[in-house]
This record gives sequence, structure tokens and C-alpha cells, in this order.
Amino acid sequence: MICDFHSHALFGIDDGAKDKQMAVAMLKKAKSDGVDTVLLTSHCYPENYEDIDRFIEKRDRICDELACIEGLPNLVKACEVHITRDIARFRNIRKLCIENTNYMLVEMPHAPWTDKTIDTVYKLNIRGITPIIAHDERNMHQRPELHNALYDLDVLIQVNAPSLFKFSDRKKVDKLMRRGLAHVIGSDMHNMTNREPCMEKAHRRIINRYGEECWRYLMRNSEKILNGEEVTYRDFRSFKKKGMF
Ligand SMILES: [Fe+2]
Repeated sequence: MICDFHSHALFGIDDGAKDKQMAVAMLKKAKSDGVDTVLLTSHCYPENYEDIDRFIEKRDRICDELACIEGLPNLVKACEVHITRDIARFRNIRKLCIENTNYMLVEMPHAPWTDKTIDTVYKLNIRGITPIIAHDERNMHQRPELHNALYDLDVLIQVNAPSLFKFSDRKKVDKLMRRGLAHVIGSDMHNMTNREPCMEKAHRRIINRYGEECWRYLMRNSEKILNGEEVTYRDFRSFKKKGMF
């Protein structure tokens, strides 16, 4: 299975696909690149529990509209939840988990983290949720002790495929991989131009840079998550191509 774990292919809900036509074009391109499954991870910024219900209602409506179209990959309902406040206290927070699982894709704040930020993630754990940290390579400017505190919690890490193609970001991805802190990968596609579907390119890059076994590991993890199974941490040095790290 080839899974794109992070996408903004739903239309009219965030800064991703502008309309249905663009959404279909993005998903068809993904399919022609060999992607079987795409997680629909539109941005969600819950301020209260009503926001969550409204978001779910809208997301499901758009998703169901796309699901009727032939020739698209399997679509999985999910979202990218911004950690802006103590979201764990909302009684319906579990609705934002990836379809039929206890996993939730979360986006950490870009602003400096505090103990409170980490505490919010911890409280999600208490609610039985395993947060998956979206594109964690973007969080490298945060204080290391807070970042390490985050890794001590029950979390998994997602990396962005486009980061494999930018020198500075690639170094950050290497760092995560070296520590066994990269579990799934996604395109984070937003459109067909500058943030386009790119999993085929990413597949080739991962194989060249880290080896075939690494790619299989990332895809297997996606499958396990969607099946609600546990993912085990694995030291990526075991995948390394000679001289890589
Ligand atoms: Fe995103």
C-alpha cells in the first residue's frame, strides 16, 4: 500500500484545494503516482466543542461528495488539529481522530512552546489519543528540552515529503530519522502548482537516501495506524545506506 498521510485535498474548507475540480485533479494525480490511500487532513482550529461538530459536519459532506467519484484513491477522514489551547478538554475532541482510530494528526504551534504546550499533548494521551506530530522537521527551532519532553509522551512523528528536496529541511529529516523519530510521511499537498502531489518523487528519494526497507517501514506504519494497531519505534540507522549518517 502507498499512503499519503497528510493532504489538503478537500475543497472549500481551508487553504488547500480551491474547488472540486482542483481536488479531483490532485487526487487523480496522486492515484496515477501509485498512491492507494490519501488521508484528508484539512486544518482544524477548534476554539470550542461546537467548532468541532461544525468542522466534522462540513468535512464529511465534502468528503462524501468526493467519494462518489470514480478513479480516486481511498479517502480517509482525518484533519490536522492545531494545538492552540487546551483542546483536550473539549468533550467531543475524539471526533477529530483519524477515522476509526485513536490517532490524531496535530500541528504544533510555530510560536515558542511552553510547558503548557507539552501539557496539552499529555492531556490528549490521558484522553486515550495518540497524537501524530505533523511535519516535525518544522519544529526544530523549539527548545530541545521541550522537544524531548514531547518525545517522552505517547506520540508518533510525520514528516513532509517536500522536505526531502530542500537542503536545510533534508538535514532536519535526517536528524529525525537518525533518532528513529519519523514514522509516517505525507505530501501535505495543497494545490497542483507549488504544493502539489509528490509521493512518487518522495518514494524514489527515500529509496535512494535511506533504502527500500525504510520506505516499507513508513508505509507499513501508515497501514498499522489506519488499522488502529500499535507502531513500534525503529532506529533508522538500521536502514541506512552506507555513509548516510
Ligand atoms: Fe498541512
